[in-house]
Amino acid sequence: MCGIVAYLGHQQACPILINGLRRLEYRGYDSAGIAIINETIHLYKNQGKVATLAQRIENLPVTGTVGIAHTRWATHGLPNDVNAHPHFSQSENLAIIHNGIIENYATLKKILQERGYIFRSETDTEVLIQLIEDILNNGRVSLVEAVQQALNQVIGAYAIVVISRNEPDMLVAARKSSPLVIGIGKGEYFLASDATPIVEYTKDVVYLNDEEIAIIRRNEDLKIKTIKNADKIPYIQKLEMNLSALEKGGFAHFMLKEIFEQPVSVRDSMRGRLDIDNGIISLGGIRDYLQKLIHARRIIIVGCGTSWHAGLVGEYLIEELARIPVEVEYASEFRYRNPILSEKDIVIAISQSGETADTLAAIQLAKSKGATILGICNVVGSSIARESHAGSYTHAGPEIGVASTKAFTAQVSILTLLALEIAKAKGTITHSRFFQIIRELDKIPEKIEKVLELNERILEIARNYSHVRNFLYLGRGYNFPVALEGALKLKEISYIHAEGYPAAEMKHGPIALIDEEMPCVVLATNKGTYDKVVTNIMEIKSRKGKIIAIVTRGDSLVREQADYVIEIPETEELLVPLLATIPLQLLSYHMAILRGCDVDQPRNLAKSVTVE
Ligand code: AGP
Repeated sequence: MCGIVAYLGHQQACPILINGLRRLEYRGYDSAGIAIINETIHLYKNQGKVATLAQRIENLPVTGTVGIAHTRWATHGLPNDVNAHPHFSQSENLAIIHNGIIENYATLKKILQERGYIFRSETDTEVLIQLIEDILNNGRVSLVEAVQQALNQVIGAYAIVVISRNEPDMLVAARKSSPLVIGIGKGEYFLASDATPIVEYTKDVVYLNDEEIAIIRRNEDLKIKTIKNADKIPYIQKLEMNLSALEKGGFAHFMLKEIFEQPVSVRDSMRGRLDIDNGIISLGGIRDYLQKLIHARRIIIVGCGTSWHAGLVGEYLIEELARIPVEVEYASEFRYRNPILSEKDIVIAISQSGETADTLAAIQLAKSKGATILGICNVVGSSIARESHAGSYTHAGPEIGVASTKAFTAQVSILTLLALEIAKAKGTITHSRFFQIIRELDKIPEKIEKVLELNERILEIARNYSHVRNFLYLGRGYNFPVALEGALKLKEISYIHAEGYPAAEMKHGPIALIDEEMPCVVLATNKGTYDKVVTNIMEIKSRKGKIIAIVTRGDSLVREQADYVIEIPETEELLVPLLATIPLQLLSYHMAILRGCDVDQPRNLAKSVTVE
């Protein structure tokens, strides 16, 4: 949450920073601000999106080659002009941008107030910059030392960049539990919460580690120290990201583009890992842990939101194919309930961003108790990826839309490969069944293309329901997590209340909600518990509920009962989530657009949830 960007170099900082904020806006978008050094620190900030800030400063002489900028997702204090970042210190000699939460800010604030500091905002961030100034004023220390000392007093998470009027050719940056990437150009440095604002300028990046401080001075090499002042050697990595992946590419929204990218992203997630001809699955990242997986006492999957839903599909897959008991936990619950863990447990963390605070904390806890941690992340170099013992990247490409779409199908693809790889190595799957599944898996990208051809039809269905206030999503077996994911997608971008349920649970309560006003999306693909789901459809019908059914191509039974049917290609039951999810993504997208919602930046949400 919150996007931070900073620049020091030979170009004008302002356009680079505004452009960077636009790229990072998916991380938070309630207010934005910029500060540029030019003799003094010129600071502009306001409530609203980056476009508002850009418009405001368009005709102002915001010149200078060193600056910082921020796009906010409010934690402490309302989203207003005053609480927007950057924040000045009392003397206005220092300014800071911050992503994260300073947990002991109230205690520190009280001490600073007693020393005469006056606070303009309600933020925890202002406390940090005042503390740095206080240390500078009283300690005869350098700016770097002051930042180090301040960060040693701070409890919480931070990615910060500090600038000083007295040191106009310097940026001081630090991180703990919130991401920070440093791009190294020719005589210039680009800092950001992730690599998306950097990739158009340089491919050479350094990912800062927890409790490290980057000291960036004009015409000098990057220096990294810890907050305890130990020297570190910067490890420069090459970015493998294309600029085109960050553009809408002709689509109206990132979300739509990302939905339509799924034939490619699912293929990419399996590329080099699935060898159909020789019947080999090899997830390189976990190769060294395969024996551990085979002998695991149990697997615990942790994640949040959509990634948690992918985890549920993973549970079904791993239990069915590899016969290992699996538990799927909300990371936020797992981390606080003193879970029983040992060296025989494997914890799989699933996260698109790789930065979700609860998931990160959950794996840190599991690690401390001796469990092996495998990460399934999309963002390369992210905190969860680095905190894990091993893992697999999903390779879905940057996901910019706040609603997760292609990341989900890529996560499910990886989990399918993982379950199959363990099953084969463990001998819990026959040779012929293994081949049957992998051949079908290989066809999934083509079948996704077929599902995407239903876009117009789904728009038509959305037109009939965009006015409703509630929706029910029902599915069983592999379709149960799909129902949950469909409901989440609808509520997060269209603000329609939606519930996902296992279809059989309907009669234990939700059936009371059904009347002619209640549309029910029923996942009734033709395998597994099809007959039972058909019975549920009858029950809904006899209570005048409206039915939108996702069925297998050629189905006639459900067609007779449903108000609308969406036909998806036939596939293996365990691969159905990879197809059935897609019409639900499109339905949510069209409903949201018809209701005039901002699908890429829905209200109150942020892409990367780096706070608890
Ligand atoms: C998905 O559409 C949501 N925006 C959200 O639930 C998301 O999946 C969740 O915050 C987890 O994010 P992660 O995958 O980056 O960890």
